[in-house]
Amino acid sequence: MSDTYARYATLREEGPVQRVATPLGGYAYVVLRYDDARAALNDQRLSKHPKNAPAYLREAGIVTEDVGPLGVNMLASDPPDHTRLRRVVGRAFTPRRVESLRPRIQQITDDLLDALPVGEEIDLIGRFAFPLPVIVICEMLGVPAEDRDQFRTWTRSMTIVPSTPERRQRREAGLAALGIYMSDLIALRRSEIDRTLPSEEQPDLISALIMATDDRGTLDEQELHGTLMLLFIAGHETTVNLIGNGTLALLRNRDQLDALMADPGLLPSAVEELLRYDGPVERATFRTAVEDVEVGGVTIPSGSLVVVALGSADRDPHRFDLPDKLDLARKDNPHLAFGHGMHFCLGAPLARLEGMVAFSSLFARFPGIRLAAPPEDLRMRPQEALMIFRGLEELPVRL
Ligand code: HEM
Repeated sequence: MSDTYARYATLREEGPVQRVATPLGGYAYVVLRYDDARAALNDQRLSKHPKNAPAYLREAGIVTEDVGPLGVNMLASDPPDHTRLRRVVGRAFTPRRVESLRPRIQQITDDLLDALPVGEEIDLIGRFAFPLPVIVICEMLGVPAEDRDQFRTWTRSMTIVPSTPERRQRREAGLAALGIYMSDLIALRRSEIDRTLPSEEQPDLISALIMATDDRGTLDEQELHGTLMLLFIAGHETTVNLIGNGTLALLRNRDQLDALMADPGLLPSAVEELLRYDGPVERATFRTAVEDVEVGGVTIPSGSLVVVALGSADRDPHRFDLPDKLDLARKDNPHLAFGHGMHFCLGAPLARLEGMVAFSSLFARFPGIRLAAPPEDLRMRPQEALMIFRGLEELPVRL
């Protein structure tokens, strides 16, 4: 396992913002320190809209002229569109809807753990960390169980870096297939929806989104489509890494795991610390400076790509005492794993709930769980180009 965090520490010392060449051509400005990262995440001069992205990203097919490959969605929008989209979606994706899922999330977790062979070696990613969030988001959206496997291939295509024509073709084919599936699913929900029920009483999230409205109306077809693509991908590629990276961190810091097992009251702060210590999103999705912007004393010229290194910011010793130490009882922990400001993760309550249920159930069921491979042999998924997620390919454990 390469030590990304040691590399970040060296870079942070060299300067707060670094201009680096990307494998797609062009340059990116990487923001490394906590205070700068927090400011950048909420700076409206750093646009999320694909239309502002540098030309080299368009040429590589990462973004398109009008909307991004995901379609119209809040993460690829700036105010005032972002404000409206987030408000309408927030009416359907409510903390109440999430909390109502708790018993079902526990049930799915128990079923997955029941199927694991005690005493044997298994890959915890494939058998637990991945299926749990996928089943949850599919059930939330009302995707039939038999279609779930197909989704793994499609959503993963989003993370393929289109550095060769063949890879670009695979990425576009996967996204197109997901798009068609999504349109069919929306049409099905529209045909079956009970329009007498308000958004919050709709049985699934797609129907809730169809009925969600504000003083400027409902989501149009493109917005609905883009929102669902975003939720699917966010629901597939992130929480899996919270469970995977978090379990690995606990198995490598047995004293902390023992403390957690002795005191379940530590669970909420433990999940926050695991998010800070080795979060699922290493870099926030890119932004483009629409005017010259000064960050950490460095002037980022208008038109430049800006990447906020959350993985670096959350290990910044100017903000966190002993940042490389896993301390599940850490009190002062305003980490940036879910981002910050207007694009702060909308799914955070769901991710936290899934994390808490997953960790508490896994370690209660298998208190003797241990790593079945030397940590240096574990492979992270490739960190190429503008790849933003950080997670393990596999996590072999003995139960
Ligand atoms: C945005 C992290 C799980 C939905 C974000 C951002 C981060 C993030 C860092 C902001 C990106 C930026 O500013 O460029 C995470 C982590 C997760 C997680 C670490 C799991 C541990 C989820 C889940 C969902 C979700 C489960 C929903 C199913 C969203 C949405 C946004 C977002 C809709 C866009 C918000 C906006 O633009 O206003 N997430 N996420 N996330 N996330 Fe998550």
